Amino acid sequence: MRESVACGIEAARARTHLLTAFDEDVLTTQHDRLMSPLVWDLAHIGQQEDLWLLRGGDAACLGLLSAKVESLYDAFEHPRAERVSLPLLTPRESRSFIADVRGRVLDRLERAEESQLFPYVMVEQHEQQHVETMLATHQLRAGEPLLGVGAELPPGRVLPDDEAVMVPGGPFVMGVDGSAEPWSLDNERPAHEVDVPAFRIARVPVTNAQWQQFIDAGGYDQSHWWSERGWAHRIEAGLERPQFWAADGSRRRFGVVEQVPADEPVQHVSYWEADAYARWAGARLPTEQEWEKACAWDPALGRRRRWPWGDDPWTPGRANLGGDGLRPAPVGAYPSGASAYGVEQMIGDVWEWTSSGFDPWPQFRPMLYADYSAPFFGGDFRVLRGGSWAVGGAAIRPSFRNWDLPIRRQIFAGLRLAWDA
Ligand SMILES: [Fe+2]
Repeated sequence: MRESVACGIEAARARTHLLTAFDEDVLTTQHDRLMSPLVWDLAHIGQQEDLWLLRGGDAACLGLLSAKVESLYDAFEHPRAERVSLPLLTPRESRSFIADVRGRVLDRLERAEESQLFPYVMVEQHEQQHVETMLATHQLRAGEPLLGVGAELPPGRVLPDDEAVMVPGGPFVMGVDGSAEPWSLDNERPAHEVDVPAFRIARVPVTNAQWQQFIDAGGYDQSHWWSERGWAHRIEAGLERPQFWAADGSRRRFGVVEQVPADEPVQHVSYWEADAYARWAGARLPTEQEWEKACAWDPALGRRRRWPWGDDPWTPGRANLGGDGLRPAPVGAYPSGASAYGVEQMIGDVWEWTSSGFDPWPQFRPMLYADYSAPFFGGDFRVLRGGSWAVGGAAIRPSFRNWDLPIRRQIFAGLRLAWDA
């Protein structure tokens, strides 16, 4: 177990290196007001690792950085927009700091008991989450491509538009316990029974071609498809199409200009846009409960699966995770990743907006990193599920809950439709 934990944290670090192996100006520039300069993420990854793994979370105990420098990497103290103006470590100092921390962590891991491994995997997931954030920063960066076009992905297959599967009503087990999912984070726990009325859910996410139909039909110009807040935002922000799309049918992806691929799940749409699209399509967004039941419940056995396809671990043939493709795979690309109900591509490809706000499950208990979830409960967030192509395999599960503001669209988020039965 210790070896696989060590492999996991080193795999996360390899991804960090890939995204930060660039000239100083790429790392120290703020490419967008929504994002930190990459060099902030780089040192923050090490600062969190130092705090949770070398000091057991005790911020009063001095780490490898002085208290003054360490405070620059406190995400609660410094909003992203102002991080570029802080006296941050240079890229060279940041690399040397995170390597120093990692060396000590690996030494300590060798002596750790099985029961002490959770914080290591928590820190691995934290780094993987920042890798995804850094990919979003790269996507926002103007200038020549640095990451290439991405690895080949499996081909899609043709499916009828809006093909849906029926999920009969009845109870299922929502969320997980540490005994079943030892690396699950606090907001995924505990497992509890939820009764979900019957509903239908789309077999695959909404595609770019379908989104283009929404644009062509005037979806962005007709307020009646939009919620009141959504429409106000659409006007104020001047939204006309997904972020990174141009009016001529092309898009900009990591600096490469290409035709928008018709059969790929749409990404870079906000919750407000997803909600309007769903109404235009005669559907709605699923709730979190519906999404998780369609993803993880095995009605024949009356129990959860660890993954949609069963209990076997993720392989690249089952879902598009890990970031190598630099894009979602076309719909229909992963029939062997289908859930018990036949729903496909729930894990990977694009985060899927749900209609649910971010709230704790009954009997929620904060984990070691007590401010991971609790400060965000009840805020103006919507929950996203399933992970995107950019997510590391260790940082996603059917129970995993992501949350963001309804206006955000620099994240790799799309949608899947649902209907009342
Ligand atoms: Fe963080």
